[in-house]
Amino acid sequence: MAKSSASFVCQSCGAVSGKWSGRCESCGGWNTITEEGAATPIGSSAGPRKRGRKVALEDLKTEDKEPPRRATGVAEFDRVCGGGLVPGSALLIGGDPGVGKSTLILQALAEYGKRGGHAVYISGEEAMAQVRLRASRMGLADAPVSLGSATCVEDILTTLESGPPPGVLAIDSIQTIWTSALDAAPGTIAQVRTASFDLVRYAKASGTALLLVGHVTKDGQIAGPKQVEHLVDAVLYFEGERGHHFRVLRGVKNRFGATDEIGVFEMTGKGLSEVANPSALFLGDRNSISPGNAVFAGLEGTRPMLMEIQALVAAPSFGTPRRAVVGWDSSRLAMILAVLDARGGLGMGGHDVYLNVAGGLKVGEPAADLAAAAALVSSFTGKPLPKDCVFFGEISLSGDIRPAPQAELRLKEAAKLGFTSAVVPAGTKADGVGLTLRSIEDVSDLALLAGPSRATAKPAVVK
Ligand code: TYD
Ligand code: MG
Repeated sequence: MAKSSASFVCQSCGAVSGKWSGRCESCGGWNTITEEGAATPIGSSAGPRKRGRKVALEDLKTEDKEPPRRATGVAEFDRVCGGGLVPGSALLIGGDPGVGKSTLILQALAEYGKRGGHAVYISGEEAMAQVRLRASRMGLADAPVSLGSATCVEDILTTLESGPPPGVLAIDSIQTIWTSALDAAPGTIAQVRTASFDLVRYAKASGTALLLVGHVTKDGQIAGPKQVEHLVDAVLYFEGERGHHFRVLRGVKNRFGATDEIGVFEMTGKGLSEVANPSALFLGDRNSISPGNAVFAGLEGTRPMLMEIQALVAAPSFGTPRRAVVGWDSSRLAMILAVLDARGGLGMGGHDVYLNVAGGLKVGEPAADLAAAAALVSSFTGKPLPKDCVFFGEISLSGDIRPAPQAELRLKEAAKLGFTSAVVPAGTKADGVGLTLRSIEDVSDLALLAGPSRATAKPAVVK
């Protein structure tokens, strides 16, 4: 008989080893290995393996219609889910502690309940009284949400099975849930995985839409992490910068919709309020025109969004020039500076450079290159960019400006918000949008747009 022994599992990457050590050999994490219950290795049982039953293999065609989605009524949340929650699906919401996950879930459930749905909220972290206090502060005390406080998955399942299955079930948070079938402590990978699996199985069998809340570890992974992401149908991250009130709900995996959607919220004294038109909010006051500010006509999923990119190019201090970015990728900044110097002949290389995306947003789109470059050039030359003008386009290493997808959508949003012109890659077409387009082919044209280097000021020429 094979001897069953305890196994040691890394809580960060899930690697299993036979002995404890201070450092995981697989992912290099320190102090991440925990002893978990003995697992019987496959094939270790004596005698021949039991034969399974035959499953039916069918073709892809179906007569079934996609079941209607369960819209919660929180429009920004529904949008990120792809139009509402899918019955029988499981959705994981991750985020840093304190970002507002519990608040968001409570609001979504309350709205769903108010629309006549059966919503159940199981809190494993907060006592009932705490959740109730929060609900009354948010003005949701009367919302028809069934509230429970439990951490044992068997208790939760027994409770749920004793009545009709809820339309939406929220578990806050999955790290606190444990099953009595395992010896491991709550929060360990084995516990999180087993408890999630049981809950997901219940959701699939009963048609309940399951919302799991998960915490994010220091390095940005959902703790107990990849194991749960496999089990669920959609993974959303709730993000927000400390000191900013804006919160962004971002889809990272979605089996039933697009993943690049975002929902924007603002944290107020009475919970989260939806921001239906984020561009107007993130742009702030545009009356003061100062050098170094450029407006980027961006795209988040299917939604156009205008953001202000601010640059400061300061006289070099001693030693290595300082480079700092907020909401932007630092290697991308280095690339743009190198291209501007090499192709635009600006000589910014030795200066201190700071780049900031206003409002605590993060920009990952390459199409923001042109706006960042314009802001940098404008700050360097001390000349403000044209008023009411938006920018988009990707900069290649050769200095060419490359087209960006969905140009018309971006331009329409800019026109809606009162912008009158746009600096765009050559070849961009947008008929009937009502903006004056200035197409540029090369970063050296950009240098002309805001004026050339301080030494040789020439009048701005725009193609
Ligand atoms: P919470 O939803 O508890 O965060 P999480 O579940 O992600 O840990 O949100 C906690 C934060 O939100 C807390 O710092 C206070 C703030 N908050 C408000 O500003 N206004 C509110 O109405 C609520 C309920 C919370
Ligand atoms: Mg919480």
